[in-house]
Amino acid sequence: MNQQRTAVYPGTFDPITNGHLDILVRGCDLFDRIVICIAENPAKDEMFSLAERKAMIEEAISEHNLNSRVTVETFNGLIVDYAEKLGAIALIRGLRAVSDFEFEFQMALMNRHLNNRLHTVYLMPKDEYTYLSSSIIKNVANHGGDIHRFVPAGVKRRLVEKFLKTEGE
Ligand code: COA
Repeated sequence: MNQQRTAVYPGTFDPITNGHLDILVRGCDLFDRIVICIAENPAKDEMFSLAERKAMIEEAISEHNLNSRVTVETFNGLIVDYAEKLGAIALIRGLRAVSDFEFEFQMALMNRHLNNRLHTVYLMPKDEYTYLSSSIIKNVANHGGDIHRFVPAGVKRRLVEKFLKTEGE
């Protein structure tokens, strides 16, 4: 029997921020193995392709020396089905502020309805990351603001490249 405790950490990660990484590191204290599941979410009109998002996350994982514990996959369909396929016992989500609660509550209860064996575990990031989101990072980067404290170096580089390219078009 596989005794490893596996959790999935799903999200859009467009792009990953230090807030997501903070949650990931906390999750590693609780689980043996975490699979970051990047959702294909056309409704969100993403800036980065799935391959780009995966590459940025993999770079960040290496920088944190988490390669042996964390892997990255992309998925579509229901997260509970994907989690079951991976043998996960829990789904990790970050809870930043009260404003996250309603959506998260709804999602946790629906996911429980869909698969009662999977638990949703909420972790809170460091206070300096509680107001972070991928959208706010993209907005600040677009206007030339300094984002280096909030994203891994590879993400910052790609954001700058992306916005320089759109300016040139
Ligand atoms: N630090 C920084 N930002 C964070 C964060 C943290 N710790 N936690 C969440 N966020 C931000 C994200 O950057 C994102 O910001 P954005 O909207 O500006 O891009 C926002 O919070 C929410 O994003 P995320 O955590 O990626 O969740 P999501 O709402 O994009 O993803 C899924 C939700 C993908 C997990 C969910 O839709 C899903 O499971 N989909 C699959 C289909 C399914 O199973 N549906 C039924 C679910 S009940």
